[in-house]
Amino acid sequence: MKKNTKGIILAGGSGTRLYPLTAVASKQLQVVYDKPMIYYPIALLMLSGIKEILIITTPYDMPNFKKLLKDGSQWGIKLEYKIQEEPKGIAQAFIIGKDFIENHQVCLILGDNLFYGKLDFLRNGIANNNGGTIFGYPVNNPKDYGVVEFDSKGNVISIEEKPESPKSNYAIPGAYIFDENACEIAQKIKPGKRGELEITDMQREYLKMNKLNVVTIGRGIAWLDTGTPETMLEASTFIHSIEKRQGRKIACLEEIALNMGYLNENEYQNTLNNLPNCLYKDYCNMVLNEYTKA
Ligand code: DAU
Repeated sequence: MKKNTKGIILAGGSGTRLYPLTAVASKQLQVVYDKPMIYYPIALLMLSGIKEILIITTPYDMPNFKKLLKDGSQWGIKLEYKIQEEPKGIAQAFIIGKDFIENHQVCLILGDNLFYGKLDFLRNGIANNNGGTIFGYPVNNPKDYGVVEFDSKGNVISIEEKPESPKSNYAIPGAYIFDENACEIAQKIKPGKRGELEITDMQREYLKMNKLNVVTIGRGIAWLDTGTPETMLEASTFIHSIEKRQGRKIACLEEIALNMGYLNENEYQNTLNNLPNCLYKDYCNMVLNEYTKA
């Protein structure tokens, strides 16, 4: 991994598509089976070796995110928070995050995107990025996403945001890696048709400079949508099925912190001491028992 890659999780937005679920708490605080949705992108960044993370959220939801996630030290990471006053586009995350990013490479994850599987695609993307790295994932509803088109040699020909007639079935998931110029490039682009700073416009800027790498990720990785009540239920069912089958939790941040060496045994125990008695804590205790025996 490149030294000091920083992470941003964009967890704002209007959440109107999920109303009334989102009337009092943002989408990324909603439940995906047994934990809040935002645990999954945090897990993704932690598992990719990223320990400094900026959470961007709305003025209304920020206190709840802070209550839930605190400063991250309980997981051996550092969490910072910034407000996005209005949902003016995904690329705005790099402008809001300017002081946080400084001159580091940055990995942005959309707070409502869930990935499951071997995460080498992201780790390799972070390690090998030279400009921008994004991913292409085959879906049967490309119209709903940013879409990337390749020529027969695998070169990128076009990138379009939610095209009426998609030129391929490769959607671009909400995991983006950009070099230290991300903020400057985001400042260059203009709002698109939706009045937002589109992340696809930013990708095209990197493409124009010949500095965009698009890596296709395939069937070994699950990339789940949480855009509607139905897809949220499907995501919950998916997580539930795997957790039940394996007896292991997905995105248990305490477990990840221990396994990644972000917390030592004593620190882990201190973190557990602050959890209420519950099934989640029982699981974390089981993880510790296993760890000490190994
Ligand atoms: O999920 C991947 C897709 O995400 C990409 O393929 C698209 O290129 C990208 O534009 C985006 O499409 P969506 O239609 O899913 O974007 P949406 O407006 O729903 O925003 C995605 C998440 O980011 C959502 O949870 C809200 C949050 N968000 C969005 C905007 C525009 C913010 O926090 N602030 C914003 O300004």
